[in-house]
Amino acid sequence: MLKFSAIILLAFVHLAVALPAYESLAGLSDREINEFIARNGIATIPDPPAPLAAGQDGLKLSVDPAHPFITPGPDDIRGPCPALNTLANHGYLPRTGVARPDQIVTAVMEALNLGNDFAKFLVYQAFLMNGNPLTNLMSIGTKTSLTGQDPPTPALVGGLSQHGTFEGDTSMSRVDAFFGDPAAFNQTRFNNFLAFSTQYGFNGTYDINATAEYRHHLLQDSIQTNPELDFTAPRILSAYSEAVFPLVYFVDGRLNNRQLTQAAASSFFANQRFPADFYRQPAPVTFDIIEPMVGTIFNKYPFTPGMNYGTNNYVLMPDTPALTDFCGIYTDIVLRVIPAQYPSPSSELRQALNTNLGFLFDAVKVHHACTQVFPYERDD
Ligand code: HEM
Repeated sequence: MLKFSAIILLAFVHLAVALPAYESLAGLSDREINEFIARNGIATIPDPPAPLAAGQDGLKLSVDPAHPFITPGPDDIRGPCPALNTLANHGYLPRTGVARPDQIVTAVMEALNLGNDFAKFLVYQAFLMNGNPLTNLMSIGTKTSLTGQDPPTPALVGGLSQHGTFEGDTSMSRVDAFFGDPAAFNQTRFNNFLAFSTQYGFNGTYDINATAEYRHHLLQDSIQTNPELDFTAPRILSAYSEAVFPLVYFVDGRLNNRQLTQAAASSFFANQRFPADFYRQPAPVTFDIIEPMVGTIFNKYPFTPGMNYGTNNYVLMPDTPALTDFCGIYTDIVLRVIPAQYPSPSSELRQALNTNLGFLFDAVKVHHACTQVFPYERDD
């Protein structure tokens, strides 16, 4: 009897050890799948999620019972993006702060109603710069071993907090990297956001006027004070897009007036939490709404990309892509920024990169007539 029990026990032990490595992953939680991938190396790459189904892409309560706010634990990672931090705090993303790109696409569609192509554009761009293509995992904040074995240097796999990629200078609520941690919320800086809303926005809200003024101020301020300011592609696009995001996606979808109250702004930026009873946008919001708003704030205060060589010494770089040159920025990301981290990838790594580059172009081509570019030998 004892012998029989021991055999059964051994069989269970064997199963338990074998299961994560060899059995189907179906039925495991996102966290378990992420841990599995982090342990076992190269991951299969799921296709990006489809758009929300017609009839399920409208107004919806974001803080439903399945998505309560929970303060992040000491090991949970948060980073420079107030939206993704909020989604992790509400469980739309794994609360660890480590996620697959397709999970992030789903989360921003579900919780904020980003249009599918726009969500994919943001996510796959960031993933190629900051994620781990071998394990298909990315940290929404600092670099972590939870994203698994790194590909060889000069790949960074630094997470969204990695300065000089998506993260960059002139942020609205974070200091420039020259002055401190560029991913940490900075109350003094955010007070300026509120002050500009009070001074320029309708009824003290963060609206398109306040956005234009604050965005302009941030660049001028960094030109005056940051000797290492870098304001070139791809940062110029993320800086200007992020400036308009709050007055779209952070405004309750039932109101949807492009005027963000200071209370709602503080809830997202400072508390990384949905305002109580918050509804997402009433329809998916994509390039065709965001880009004209970016155009409005740019046209009020146009700028040329450039870099500081010492404070108040902004050297124009007119040969780098301008904010208005979307396809130029796409091409620059694909042919310059990504190969700088992956100059000669092995075949496995190259396939993973090519797959993600394909997802990025699929997102771009819906709204822009860019020509696809290929930094590596093609796998298709
Ligand atoms: C969908 C994928 C997204 C990714 C990968 C992403 C990533 C990032 C990153 C890396 C930053 C830091 C940039 C910096 O300021 O240096 C950032 C900032 C920001 N993100 Fe996101 N983000 C995403 C979606 C969103 C959405 C849907 C919103 C909606 C409101 C949003 C709002 C913002 C804002 C307002 C900032 C600026 C923070 C500041 O300047 O202080 N993001 N995001």
